[in-house]
Amino acid sequence: MASSVKLFILLPFLSLFISTSLAQTSFRPKALVLPITRDTSASTPQYTTQIKQRTPLVPINLTIDLGGGYFWVNCDKSYVSSTLKPILCSSSQCSLFGSHGCSDKKICGRSPYNIVTGVSTSGDIQSDIVSVQSTNGNYSGRFVSVPNFLFICGSNVVQNGLAKGVKGMAGLGRTKVSLPSQFSSAFSFKNKFAICLGTQNGVLFFGDGPYLFNFDESKNLIYTPLITNPVSTSPSSFLGEKSVEYFIGVKSIRVSSKNVKLNTTLLSIDQNGFGGTKISTVNPYTIMETSIYKAVADAFVKALNVSTVEPVAPFGTCFASQSISSSRMGPDVPSIDLVLQNENVVWNIIGANAMVRINDKDVICLGFVDAGSDFAKTSQVGFVVGGSKPMTSITIGAHQLENNLLQFDLATSRLGFRSLFLEHDNCGNFNFTSSV
Ligand SMILES: *[C@@H]1O[C@H](CO)[C@@H](O)[C@H](O)[C@H]1NC(C)=O
Ligand SMILES: *[C@@H]1O[C@H](CO)[C@@H](O)[C@H](O)[C@H]1NC(C)=O
Ligand SMILES: *[C@@H]1O[C@H](CO)[C@@H](O)[C@H](O)[C@H]1NC(C)=O
Ligand SMILES: *[C@@H]1O[C@H](CO)[C@@H](O)[C@H](O)[C@H]1NC(C)=O
Ligand SMILES: *[C@@H]1O[C@H](CO)[C@@H](O)[C@H](O)[C@H]1NC(C)=O
Repeated sequence: MASSVKLFILLPFLSLFISTSLAQTSFRPKALVLPITRDTSASTPQYTTQIKQRTPLVPINLTIDLGGGYFWVNCDKSYVSSTLKPILCSSSQCSLFGSHGCSDKKICGRSPYNIVTGVSTSGDIQSDIVSVQSTNGNYSGRFVSVPNFLFICGSNVVQNGLAKGVKGMAGLGRTKVSLPSQFSSAFSFKNKFAICLGTQNGVLFFGDGPYLFNFDESKNLIYTPLITNPVSTSPSSFLGEKSVEYFIGVKSIRVSSKNVKLNTTLLSIDQNGFGGTKISTVNPYTIMETSIYKAVADAFVKALNVSTVEPVAPFGTCFASQSISSSRMGPDVPSIDLVLQNENVVWNIIGANAMVRINDKDVICLGFVDAGSDFAKTSQVGFVVGGSKPMTSITIGAHQLENNLLQFDLATSRLGFRSLFLEHDNCGNFNFTSSV
């Protein structure tokens, strides 16, 4: 008798439990959001994020690589999860990686690479559950999970050189298995994402706007086509693969509204994949092919009309701090414009993004790096970029991206961009609530 009474009491609880778990799985987010932190624990600043993965869930810190094709995590150390599954060579998931590698145990493989150090090894492809906060665009909301989220197993060797506590890299590049592609297909939202690097905190959105900072900045974007480089620019690729990085069509450069005389051949991408302009979150500063750097720096010094001082590496053009005044938009210097598909579509680099202060030397430098300089040639960062004949002529780096909102629309292949300085806003203003 006693047991049937118990059963009667239990039943309503049981059905309540089932209906809430159903509601949870049927909740379909419009967009997801991840926090970004600027981390200075490694030799150059890295922009990191955190994603929850495994069963039970563990927070994993990752360095963001805008042009990286893959999500990889170090599996060498303490990977414990009851939901980890290897991806077999014969599976459809394996073909999404465009892989030609297969291990003895018939596990699909693709090389995880560390773009900061240029190190890459072989790695098994696996899947596991991940959990990320959803958003309505105004503030962050409940966590949602994706079972069987694909990633590559990295190792200690590939992890070396990443910021302290970081266990892998979050690739946002143009592949079918990058974070944006996997999230948009898991929740059937548009394959769009937006990134906003802050001087301390920033934010990464998957899905369409609104993107509310102080204002809904998704309304203020300027658009330019994304260009496909037909030849891979990655340190690890198969013959015939396209680049998975994001290229835009810079047609000319203006300093103080005057056209800088450049070898324009360098601005377009040739059949071998050389030339053009790409965007990188891993290169701390914009790197320019030597003749472009020289032309821009000369025009800048002339327009500023302030004498230069002994430069501080990695920069080649510096001034005494006291000779340049500052305002809300940063140092008062001549404007630098990247002119895009026509004369009216311009990426204006304001003083705060153009200049870098070297405080202990009382010096302020033009924050661009000459690809042919000793620093760029020997630096591990961007090792595929440097040299007297870099593959890509202009790599727009992280300092120039800070406090700019960039939205990548993979379906229409276009980039939306906007400096939040112009709106009296900044990338740290998104409201991350600690709720659920
Ligand atoms: C989001 O913020 C905008 C602008 O502040 C407001 O108009 C809108 O009602 C908000 N939407 C939600 C769902 O909170
Ligand atoms: C991961 O990143 C967060 C935010 O930057 C930081 O607070 C935390 O200490 C990091 N975790 C590890 C293990 O380093
Ligand atoms: C311009 O750049 C291209 C590509 O590197 C090169 O072949 C050509 O010689 C350059 N032209 C001039 C005038 O320097
Ligand atoms: C540059 O500065 C000098 C003195 O600092 C001034 O005499 C000269 O007129 C300036 N030239 C231009 C083009 O502004
Ligand atoms: C952030 O969003 C939460 C949830 O809507 C709200 O309660 C809180 O007031 C917001 N904080 C700010 C600073 O707007």
